[in-house]
Amino acid sequence: MNKKIQKILDKKGKTKIICLTAYSKNIASILDKHCDLVLVGDSLGSVLYNYKSTKEVTLETMINHSKSVRLGVKRSIMMVDMPYNTYRNPREALKNAKLVLKETKCDGVKLEGGKKIIPIVKILVKNKIPVMGHVGILPQTDKKFTFKGKKQKESERILNDTKLLEKAGVFLIVLECVETNLSKKITQQIKIPTIGIGSSANCDGQVLVIDDLIGLSKSKFKFVKKYANISKIIDGAVKKYKSEVLKKIFPKAKHSFKS
Ligand code: KIV
Repeated sequence: MNKKIQKILDKKGKTKIICLTAYSKNIASILDKHCDLVLVGDSLGSVLYNYKSTKEVTLETMINHSKSVRLGVKRSIMMVDMPYNTYRNPREALKNAKLVLKETKCDGVKLEGGKKIIPIVKILVKNKIPVMGHVGILPQTDKKFTFKGKKQKESERILNDTKLLEKAGVFLIVLECVETNLSKKITQQIKIPTIGIGSSANCDGQVLVIDDLIGLSKSKFKFVKKYANISKIIDGAVKKYKSEVLKKIFPKAKHSFKS
C-alpha cells in the first residue's frame, strides 16, 4: 500500500481529510501545502471550458491538465478523474487508467458509479491501481442534479453501492450531494473514508472545486463557501496595470534593459 494513501486511511475517525481540485501547476502548488489529496476533476469541463456536461471532457484533456498539476503536487496524493466513456468495460478501463498513470504520474484514478462499475474497480485494484469511488450525484451520467437520498429506495441503493465499492477495493469514496443522515450512515458503516461535497460535516473529509472556493468561478451552489474573492483582486491588479501603462508610469527604468 502506497504510504501516502495509508496516511489518509489512518485519518478516519481521528482527523478530517482535506481535498481540493486543481487543474494547473501554480494553483496546485499552493494547495499541496494544505491538502491531503489534490484531485484533477473532470469538473474542469464546466469550470474552464464552459461545457454543458462533463461528458465532453476527453482523456487527452485530463492528461494534459494532470501533467501540469503534477508539477505542483509534491507531498499530497494526486488523483485523476477518468472521464466519461473511458471506462465502459474492464479492458477499456485498465488500458486508459494505465495510460493516465504512465503519462501523469498520478497516484490513482477516480470513477463515478456503484454496482455497475464493480468489475471495473476490481480489475484496476487487481492491477495495483488505487481507485477512488464517487456516488450520489454522478455528473457524467445523471440527468437531474438534485441531492440524493430523499427516498428510502435510493438511500438503500447508495448505501449498498458504497459497501460494494469498499469490498471491491476502493480506498476512498466521494459522496456528492448526499442527504445528511445518509452520509452519516455511510460514513459509520464503511471502514474507508468518505469525502463529502454537499454531503454535510458527517463525512470523513471534504472536497470543493478550487475556483468556487476562491471566488474565481461564478458558481452559486448551496454547498460552496467562498473564502476569497480572487476575481476582484485580479480585476483590481489588471485595472491598475492598464492605468499605469496608459499614464506611462509602467515600465520604469528598473524594469528595462540598458547596455
Ligand atoms: O470533477 C470533480 O471536480 C469532482 C469533485 C467535485 C469531487 O468530481
